This record gives sequence, C-alpha cells and structure tokens, in this order.
Amino acid sequence: MSDNIEKDEFSGTQTTGHEWDGIKELDTPMPRWWLWTMYATIIWSIGYWVVMPAWPLVTDYTKGMFGYSSRGVLEQELAAAVDAHSVDRAALVTMELSNVKSDPQTYQFALSGGKSAFAVNCSQCHGSGAQGAAGFPNLNDDDWLWGGSVDQIYETIKYGIRSDHEDTRVGDMPAFLDDELLEKDQINDVADYVLSLSQSGQSAEAVARGKEVYMENCASCHGENAKGLREFGAPNLTDAIWFYGGDKATIVRTISKGRANVMPAWEGRLDDVTIRQMTLFVHSLGGGE
Ligand code: HEC
Ligand code: HEC
Repeated sequence: MSDNIEKDEFSGTQTTGHEWDGIKELDTPMPRWWLWTMYATIIWSIGYWVVMPAWPLVTDYTKGMFGYSSRGVLEQELAAAVDAHSVDRAALVTMELSNVKSDPQTYQFALSGGKSAFAVNCSQCHGSGAQGAAGFPNLNDDDWLWGGSVDQIYETIKYGIRSDHEDTRVGDMPAFLDDELLEKDQINDVADYVLSLSQSGQSAEAVARGKEVYMENCASCHGENAKGLREFGAPNLTDAIWFYGGDKATIVRTISKGRANVMPAWEGRLDDVTIRQMTLFVHSLGGGE
C-alpha cells in the first residue's frame, strides 16, 4: 500500500495510502492553533490538580494548595451575613422583649428572621401557617394554654412543655379511668358537663351529675369556671376551641386516658437571637397579649 502514497493534486497534502473505490484518504495535519490549545488545556489541568481540590481518594480527596472549598465559602458568607446584622442582633438580645416593638428596625429584623426560623423548626408540628392540628395548638388565635405575652411565649419556646429541659413547663391531664380515679359513668357525665359549657343538647341530669364530678376532680386545674389555668397549662373548656377535639368520644378519651403532648425545648438547639425572633413572630400572629 505504501507504494500508493502520493500528494493530492488539489490540496498538496499527502495521502495516507488508503483508498476505497477510488476515494483516497488525505493525511491532513491538525491545525497549529488546535494543537496549541490542546497542549494549553493539558498544562492548565495539571496546574488545576495541584492548586484546587481534584481527585477523590478512598475516604477523602486531594485538597489542592489553595485549600478552596465551596462549604468554606458558604461559611464565610454566612458569617458575613451574621456580621451585617450584628447591630440588630445585639439590640435584640439586650432589649426587653416587650420593648422591641417600639424599635421598628429591630422589630422588623426579628419578624423576618422569626418567620423563616418558624418555617424550618416549628411548622412540622404547628403547621406552615401556625394553624395547628389536633394535639398541636393553633398559634394564631388568642386561646393560650400557657400564656400569650411575649415573656410567656419566650419561656414556652425556650424551655418547652413536658420536655427534657430542667426548666420545662409541666402540667398533667390525669388519666381518670386508667388510674381508677373515676368510674366510666362518672366520666360520661363529666364529659356531658364539659360539652354543655360550649354547646347544648346534653341531658340535664347527666350535666348536673357531671358538674359535681367536675367541681371535685377538675376545677383545681381547669378552674371553677372551667376557663382554664395557665399555671398548669390546663385549657379553657368553655370556648369551643378544642386542642384535642370537641366531640364526645374524644373528650371521653381525654378524660379516661389523660393527655401529655410534648413541645421540645429550643434552648441549646437554637441561639437566643433566633428564639427571640420566633417569640416576636409568634406573638405577632394575631393572638399576642
Ligand atoms: C414536635 C412537635 C413540636 C414542634 C417541633 C414545636 N412545637 Fe410548639 N408545641 C407542641 C405541642 C404538642 C404543644 C402543646 C403542648 C401542651 O400540650 O401544652 C406546643 C405548644 C407551643 C406553644 C404554646 C401555645 C399555648 O397555647 O400556650 C408555643 C408558643 C409553641 N408551641 C411555639 C413553638 C415554636 C415557636 C416552635 C418552633 C421553634 C415549636 N413550637 C415547635 C409541639 C411542637
Ligand atoms: C392536674 C391538673 C388537671 C386536672 C385535675 C384535670 N385536667 Fe384536664 N387538662 C389538664 C391539662 C394540663 C390539659 C392539657 C393537656 C395537654 O396539654 O396535653 C388538660 C386537657 C383537658 C381536656 C382537653 C381539652 C381540649 O381542648 O382538647 C379536657 C376535655 C379536659 N382536660 C377535661 C378535664 C376534666 C373533665 C377533668 C376532671 C375529670 C380534668 N380535665 C382534670 C390538666 C388537668
């Protein structure tokens, strides 16, 4: 085949000697600019391996001389964002919570931070609009188990309710049937009495019997007027706003088996600035006292 090597008469380029059906392959060299570009990229890539993170190892990777990492950049940016708000942050932790509202800039900083911190940390239980669900209180209304002033909300968020924090809020709804404090028919009567406080339709005799049971067993926590006592986290039973549910079966279950839902403590998990932001955000939702 080498005998066939010849110059192509139009381009002046050598042929490779390959020929198929009279079509000859030309041995056109790579253009110079292309070759130099390729050499440059090879040199560049070697330089890149040396200075930048490049090769995966079994448990680690080559870090490169510049020590760059996108995580490091993010950390710097976060630190810069914290720095940019250092004045607001300092104001928020030193001010009395109840005074923050009178300082528009700090208050605005608290609300916007509180809103996003709420979405991340609280919405799983309280709902994205803080509307709550059975066993998880609505935080928009003015029906508070533990109190709706900024200081009370702050305490609730910081220490939790029946949480593992030593300063947690505590309060028990006893299990009157399981712990043999009341008989089934007494529970039935007292459930009717509880229902009668916010709606009609119960038998008058059952309500009268239930009232006696109530005064003896329940008033100490829920109050004689059944409007609830915040020191025990005992809900108002007269307002037709139900925490666990206001149908008779749910009320009978609440009284029979007790209730003790847990709200986690956030001290130690979130910093004080964030807890204060969330406090003011929750307080601003409409039910704040
Ligand atoms: C694991 C579920 C859960 C998470 C997460 C949670 N909570 Fe709660 N929260 C509860 C429960 C349950 C209660 C009611 C406790 C009780 O029975 O008294 C409650 C009660 C509250 C109360 C008291 C309401 C009242 O009527 O007094 C406030 C305020 C509150 N939560 C705010 C928050 C904030 C702010 C966050 C986010 C940092 C949060 N919660 C995260 C479950 C949760
Ligand atoms: C030791 C205090 C205590 C006593 C006594 C007590 N309760 Fe409660 N009760 C509570 C607390 C605290 C809660 C809220 C439980 C929670 O947050 O998980 C509650 C919740 C309830 C609820 C749920 C309300 C809702 O909105 O879903 C009902 C109903 C109720 N109690 C009725 C009674 C009745 C009836 C009695 C008497 C037979 C009684 N309680 C006695 C503390 C008490």
